Amino acid sequence: MGKVVLGIESSCDETAAAVLVDGRRVLSSVVASQDDVHAPYGGVVPELASRRHLEVIVPVVEKALAEAGVRLGDLDGLAVTQGPGLVGSLLVGCSLAKALAWVHGLPLVGVNHLEGHIYAAFLTDDPPEHPFLALVVSGGHTALYHAPAPLTYRLVGQTRDDAAGEAFDKVAKLLGLGFPGGPIIQKTAERGDSRAIDFPLAQITDGARDFSFSGIKTAVSQYVKRHGPLGEAQVADVAASFQAAVVKMLVRRTVRAALHVGVKRVLLTGGVAANGPLRASLAAETAEHGIHLHVPPPRLCTDNAAMITAAGTARLAAGERAPLTMNAIPDLVLA
Ligand code: KG4
Ligand code: ZN
Repeated sequence: MGKVVLGIESSCDETAAAVLVDGRRVLSSVVASQDDVHAPYGGVVPELASRRHLEVIVPVVEKALAEAGVRLGDLDGLAVTQGPGLVGSLLVGCSLAKALAWVHGLPLVGVNHLEGHIYAAFLTDDPPEHPFLALVVSGGHTALYHAPAPLTYRLVGQTRDDAAGEAFDKVAKLLGLGFPGGPIIQKTAERGDSRAIDFPLAQITDGARDFSFSGIKTAVSQYVKRHGPLGEAQVADVAASFQAAVVKMLVRRTVRAALHVGVKRVLLTGGVAANGPLRASLAAETAEHGIHLHVPPPRLCTDNAAMITAAGTARLAAGERAPLTMNAIPDLVLA
C-alpha cells in the first residue's frame, strides 16, 4: 500500500475530511454542508460556521476513516487547510489536525485552499501536466495562476472587487432566489433568455489580466429597482443575462491570458467551475485555440477535503512539514 494521508478542510462553510492513497486514489471523501445554517441569512455567518464545524468535525473525520477502512494508526500523514478562509472556521480544522499529529506522531502539512482547488484536477482520469494556467473561481476568490512546475505558482490576474461566486450569491439574494446563489441562478437561468438584457462588462484598460464583477452586480441591482417587482419570467431573464455576462468575462480573460502566457493547458476549478454554461463556454473557446482544458467533476470543484489531501500529499512528498505551532492564516496567498 502507498502513502495513506488524511486531509481536513474547514475554511468556509463545508466541514470535510478525506483519506487518499498516494494523493491519487480516493478511499473516502466526506463533506458536511452547512447550507441549512446560513440559508436564512443569504450568506455565510462566520460565528455560526465555526460553531457548526466544532459540532461536526470529529464525526466527519471518523466517518472518513470508517469509509476508507483505515485507523489513525495506519496513516502516513495529515493535511489540513491553513488558509485562506474564515479564521474561526480554519482554527477548528487546524486544531484537530495538530492534536491528531501530536498524539499519533504523524507528519503534518498545512495546505493553501487555492492549491487544493487546483489539485482537484489531479484526481481526474486526465491529470494535467505542467506548465498550465489555472482559473480558480470560487465564493471567495477569482484568480488566474500560471503553474510552470509542480508546487510553483505565479499570479497572472485576479478580481479587482467581488469574487465571481460572491456575485452569484449577491444577485441570487437580490432576486430573492436563496442561498447558495450559484446553483439556483444556473437553474433559474435555464428558463430565461440570456440575450434579454445587456449587462455591460467592466473594461480593464491598463492591460492587466484582471476581472471585475461589481459593475455587473450593480447593473442587476439597478435593473431590479427600475423594473421591480419582477415576474417569474423576468427573473429568469435577469438570471440568464447575468450568468452570460459573468461567463463571458471569465472565458475571455482566461483565454487571452493563456495565449499571452503561452500555455497549451488550462485548468478550471473552484465552486463556480461547477457552473454548466461556464464549463461549456470555456471548453468551446479553448478548443478553438488548440488549448487542452481540464475541468474536475462538479463535486470536486466545490469545497471538499479530497483536493486538500491531494495537494498535502504532494507537499509531504516534497519534504514539507508544519510545526505544532502552525496557525491558521486567513489571508494566506498562493502567489
Ligand atoms: O469553492 P467553493 O465551494 O467555496 C469557496 O472556496 O468559496 O465555492 C462556493 C461558491 C459559491 O459562491 C457558490 O454560489 C458557487 O461557488 N457555485 C456556483 C455553482 N455551484 C457553486 N456558481 C455558479 N454556478 C454553480 N453551479
Ligand atoms: Zn473553495
